[in-house]
Amino acid sequence: MTRRAVVKGVGHYLPERVVPNAEFEKTLDTTDEWIKSRSGIERRHFAAPDQTTSDLATHAAKAALAMAGMDGNDIDAIVLATSTADLTFPSAATMVQQAIDNTKGYAFDVQAVCAGFVYALSNANALIASGQADRVLVIGAETFSRIMDWTDRGTCVLFGDGAGAVILEAETGTGTAKDRGILSTDLNSDGRYKDLLYVDGGVSTNSTGVLRMVGKEVFRHAVEKLAQTAHTALGKVGLGPDDVTWVVPHQANIRIIQSTAKKLGVGMDRVIVTVQDHGNTSAASIPLALSVGVSNGQIKQGDVVVTEAIGGGLAWGAVVIRW
Ligand code: UT7
Repeated sequence: MTRRAVVKGVGHYLPERVVPNAEFEKTLDTTDEWIKSRSGIERRHFAAPDQTTSDLATHAAKAALAMAGMDGNDIDAIVLATSTADLTFPSAATMVQQAIDNTKGYAFDVQAVCAGFVYALSNANALIASGQADRVLVIGAETFSRIMDWTDRGTCVLFGDGAGAVILEAETGTGTAKDRGILSTDLNSDGRYKDLLYVDGGVSTNSTGVLRMVGKEVFRHAVEKLAQTAHTALGKVGLGPDDVTWVVPHQANIRIIQSTAKKLGVGMDRVIVTVQDHGNTSAASIPLALSVGVSNGQIKQGDVVVTEAIGGGLAWGAVVIRW
């Protein structure tokens, strides 16, 4: 018998303000055509000035709780992936804890930038597998609009704000790939590449900073490492690309998504794509795509879903879930 972390609910939230590519043409030497053809992005959402990451996260969490038919106090642990928490401390996760009236659980943030949700899922799975929690709320939430250099056309047109959440509950499985729940995880990082994607400020340097990226280099690493980590995660449970119902990739660039799918040997008809509507929402992008995929009827119970992501660090990884 094996304890499995089974998905019981999923939800997402996007701030009201939608910003189409054309809006950047007013202030930058760029075009809708360039942004669309190089990244696949057509629009993104930006949080209102008074909206914080924990606000977005709370909306997503409440939607996931509603789908699971649970109250805030049914949750044992809250794991929130973000690089844009409201405050230096306490964690955004504790703010969500208060907002959903959870008084019995424990809450903490995970920071692995765009790979954050994959890291959070893996940690939540470990909490359930080890018996430290029965029900875990896993959230990815970001307000990357707060760390943009609005004069850098190579980055500020790519990112957006949003949040997605998943509720995992312990169930007893057989220990085979036929079980529902998280079947395997694969996490990696390599700090030698920290200068490819970073924020040039932080608490310990007494500044806030803005995002800096060597886009071409990140692109090159992404295609190679994403296919590799997805293969590794599938291999850990004896599955291969033909067993995959849906790939739900980090939504950074349609060309990365297409190249990774090709390398993995999965057709684009089995890939959930939301990058055109959300832009790159960092740790929020996978739970947003999962929630969209479920709400439009693509992802169904029993499907084999592979999520994969890469971001600053570099940090990357994949999770295989039987939905
Ligand atoms: O989420 C974390 C992971 N992040 C990623 O996965 C992002 C990875 N990188 C990418 O998605 C792509 O590298 C970008 C979308 C950032 C850039 O696409 P690219 O095809 O690699 O373009 P590039 O950086 O090589 O730039 C090509 C040209 C340059 O001009 P020159 O030097 O050829 O004259 C850029 O200055 O495009 C120029 N450029 C732009 N032109 C119009 C860069 N940004 C823009 C822009 N509008 N917004």
